[in-house]
Amino acid sequence: MPLPAPRRLLLLALCWLPAAALADGSLSAERQQELETLLYQDCGSCHGMTLRGGLGPALPESRMNAYSRDGLAALILNGVAGTAMPGWAGLLTEEEARWLADHLQNDNPLDE
Ligand code: HEC
Repeated sequence: MPLPAPRRLLLLALCWLPAAALADGSLSAERQQELETLLYQDCGSCHGMTLRGGLGPALPESRMNAYSRDGLAALILNGVAGTAMPGWAGLLTEEEARWLADHLQNDNPLDE
């Protein structure tokens, strides 16, 4: 049986607390969930579903922190010219790209 609604809301709020605190604060929890799905499915189609690499390189936390957050967001928005890495500016706002950069730098499943 699902939890009663107030309990579910509380759980949801608790789950999103760290991400919301790190992000710019104005992305809805729903949009953050969509971005996380995008990261592992769309980005994951090249970088691997667990970001371990495939056509694109692995994206471990240590490597991601070699970039500034804004530098990483710019890379995501612009892509890498001359490679298969596409620019996402048509699909993502700057704030959303920064959210992804922040996720890669601070909430990365691949933090070796
Ligand atoms: C069509 C395949 C493809 C997709 C989809 C893709 N990438 Fe990439 N990505 C690449 C390739 C190839 C490179 C390596 C470019 C190079 O040689 O410098 C790369 C490089 C990167 C880098 C730099 C890695 C490093 O070690 O410096 C980051 C960060 C990155 N991608 C993030 C993302 C994110 C976030 C998404 C989704 C929003 C995404 N990529 C979607 C192919 C892809």
